[in-house]
Amino acid sequence: MERILHIPIVVFVLGASLFCRHNAIPNELFMPGEIDVWGGLEEEGFFDHPWWRSEGVDGRRPVSVDGFGAVGDGVTNDTQAFVDAWNKACSMKNAVFLVPEGGRYLVKAVRFNGPCADNLIIQISGTIVAPDEPKDWDPKLPRLWLSFSGLNGVKIQGGGTIDGSGTKWWASSCKINKTNALTIDKSSAVKIQDLTIQNSQQMHFTISRSDTVRVSNVLIASPANSPNTDGIHISGSTGVVLQNCNIGTGDDCVSIVSGSSNIKMKNIICGPGHGISIGSLGKGNSTDTVIGVVLDTATLTGTTNGLRIKTWQGGSGAVRSVRYENVVMNNVSNPIIIDQFYCDSSNPCKNLTSAVKISQVMYRNIQGTSKTSQAIKFACSDAVPCSNIVLNDVNLLLHDGTAATTTSCNCAVGFDYGFVQPSVECLRSTTTNSQCQQQASQNGDDDTMEDNERAYSAHTEL
Ligand SMILES: *[C@@H]1O[C@H](CO)[C@@H](O)[C@H](O)[C@H]1NC(C)=O
Ligand SMILES: *[C@@H]1O[C@H](CO)[C@@H](O)[C@H](O)[C@H]1NC(C)=O
Ligand SMILES: *[C@@H]1O[C@H](CO)[C@@H](O)[C@H](O)[C@H]1NC(C)=O
Ligand SMILES: *[C@@H]1O[C@H](CO)[C@@H](O)[C@H](O)[C@H]1NC(C)=O
Ligand SMILES: *[C@@H]1O[C@H](CO)[C@@H](O)[C@H](O)[C@H]1NC(C)=O
Repeated sequence: MERILHIPIVVFVLGASLFCRHNAIPNELFMPGEIDVWGGLEEEGFFDHPWWRSEGVDGRRPVSVDGFGAVGDGVTNDTQAFVDAWNKACSMKNAVFLVPEGGRYLVKAVRFNGPCADNLIIQISGTIVAPDEPKDWDPKLPRLWLSFSGLNGVKIQGGGTIDGSGTKWWASSCKINKTNALTIDKSSAVKIQDLTIQNSQQMHFTISRSDTVRVSNVLIASPANSPNTDGIHISGSTGVVLQNCNIGTGDDCVSIVSGSSNIKMKNIICGPGHGISIGSLGKGNSTDTVIGVVLDTATLTGTTNGLRIKTWQGGSGAVRSVRYENVVMNNVSNPIIIDQFYCDSSNPCKNLTSAVKISQVMYRNIQGTSKTSQAIKFACSDAVPCSNIVLNDVNLLLHDGTAATTTSCNCAVGFDYGFVQPSVECLRSTTTNSQCQQQASQNGDDDTMEDNERAYSAHTEL
């Protein structure tokens, strides 16, 4: 509770003049509230009992893939056994879909669709492995390998491994359809814990169009040079908690994209990888919104970015109410970065007169080393400047200590308090920001907040 009570007061006192323009927005919005994202998942007796080992305990009924003909030798095609076991487990109350320990099950793309009968547990204790030959994949069924959809009140656990066998895919062009390893789509009240996900062709774990999802004790591992292998990708989801996750990969450790809100991350280890990202957003003039993100306690090592918000030129929508705190950086290339000129395309991108609006972003107790001297970069849109950027107790040094670190600002407004190094004085500068503010007021920036509120409520009703 301490951080909830403490911060808004400080922000209120120091930030009163900055916030008064938006005084219709309650201060609490700056700190996403402690919404109950557990959704009753913590009920007694639901978790952490070895009932699945013996039939009948707690009324649990194990449905093992072995009982449906799976061989688990890493060579035999066990796909049909998984489909058949799923159909059985999904139809029975209190079932346990079991992938036994010790087996190595070769499985092709499978859709595990719900809704299922109540209290299903998916117990992955063995290894599920994907075919490693690209020619064994149907190009018409791309993007998803193990996809769980339409589930409600399900737990996925078991200490096992999901291995995407991605090595041969990493070498091939990004124009080829690759699959994401594990997907949770259109689901509610799902808890995922104690799993390893590795060597995905593309993203390791995607959470899309879902609410109330808790992920804990998940290890994600792929090499630094594996392209587009995001660790955990959250899209169009609300009430997602990531806790005690250790992610090493070739792209973002965590990426949070449009339509996501109330996302919490606690105790995250990231590296190698591209950091913890919000975005990219606003691509192709899209309206994208991410509201309410907290990262508390993280260590990033050797990553190409640290805490990054990336948006394309053009587009609309908002990123708002973001708090990063208690983060250690080890030799990170861009420890703190807002990049509204993001352009992941071979053609250069033009500057446009609209952008996703970024506001109410707080960095608190961020310590460690930067690989480059520019440790902090706020490259905000000229047309829609960033506002209410707040830093408190930040100390970022160059990794070899040969020079001081610096901050660059483009159209970013905010303030700092406590010890902050490098200096972020440019956030308060009226000279560097006057050009932007002029342009912003010509573009009616005063109404941006209300427009974004409308855009957001329209979005959540979809
Ligand atoms: C594996 O089994 C599934 C389900 O029977 C089938 O669709 C697929 O073609 C098989 N794959 C291979 C490579 O044999
Ligand atoms: C990729 O998947 C799409 C369907 O999503 C399909 O239309 C396209 O042909 C596939 N591309 C290749 C190279 O197989
Ligand atoms: C985005 O908007 C700009 C300016 O209106 C326009 O020039 C551009 O073609 C649009 N891009 C797309 C992908 O629609
Ligand atoms: C930081 O990274 C650079 C380049 O990758 C490397 O030379 C240096 O030894 C690293 N420093 C530390 C302290 O890890
Ligand atoms: C876009 O605007 C930024 C900030 O004003 C500027 O640094 C950059 O050079 C511009 N890029 C192009 C392609 O005009």
